[in-house]
Amino acid sequence: MKIRPLEIAWTHRDGLDYKPSWKREQLFINPEHAQIWERTKHLPGWQDPADSHKLYEMAYYCGQIILEIGVFGGRSAAVELRGALAGQTDEPPQYYGLDIDPGFLGRSLASVKELGVDQHCLFYHGNLQQFLRDLPVVPTMVFVDGDHQYAGVIADLRTLQGFLAPWTPVLCHDYHAIEGVRRAVDEVLQTPHFRLMGLFAGCAAWKKRTSSAPAWPCSNATKPPSASPPRPAIRLR
Ligand SMILES: C[S@@+](CC[C@H](N)C(=O)[O-])C[C@H]1O[C@@H](n2cnc3c(N)ncnc32)[C@H](O)[C@@H]1O
Repeated sequence: MKIRPLEIAWTHRDGLDYKPSWKREQLFINPEHAQIWERTKHLPGWQDPADSHKLYEMAYYCGQIILEIGVFGGRSAAVELRGALAGQTDEPPQYYGLDIDPGFLGRSLASVKELGVDQHCLFYHGNLQQFLRDLPVVPTMVFVDGDHQYAGVIADLRTLQGFLAPWTPVLCHDYHAIEGVRRAVDEVLQTPHFRLMGLFAGCAAWKKRTSSAPAWPCSNATKPPSASPPRPAIRLR
């Protein structure tokens, strides 16, 4: 279980362009990072360049166990796993993607196969509550891009609040574009559980504070099934 806390906090005044959240000399980690939006733009999904750059970066530093809510066509999954593989230090990354639309599986499988990352994926048909009941993993990063209505987003964020390990980076898509998403994100940012760390294209990134009394401390986090070999992409429900 490896989480490298975000090191740089950006504010609204810094604009929405991609900016690093971890300290380093270069804007981009490597040539693949710089090219990742171009390389994946034909896949089904909605990503601005800054979205893809931030997801790749987050997965590079914290992508050992990726949880994504809302997969649609696997575009963001492919970005995340390319970043996680580039940053891999020991165990191979695991990606868990869930979606309530059964059509996501066919679309997404083709995308992750094309990018050569399918052996790291587990696709789950269902919502976050159902997923956690069946697979109580403790992710090292989260991408929230499922329900875009206020009630659904706030429900997912409150669920995350209850089980994430301290310092887990969470990226929330469509913060600017969709009022319900913004309202839900702003609401959880008023609590002591999350802190805003920057805005990048449609995303807000933040981490859980250690003072937030997580359900379990990081060092005792339930070991996700990472000891077993990566599984092929399957649908469980
Ligand atoms: C914007 S798309 C995801 C795009 C994808 N993350 C990407 O960037 O390539 C949103 C997806 O969330 C799914 N969805 C909607 N409500 C959901 C929920 N409550 N839980 C999980 N997925 C949900 C939809 O079926 C849809 O496929």
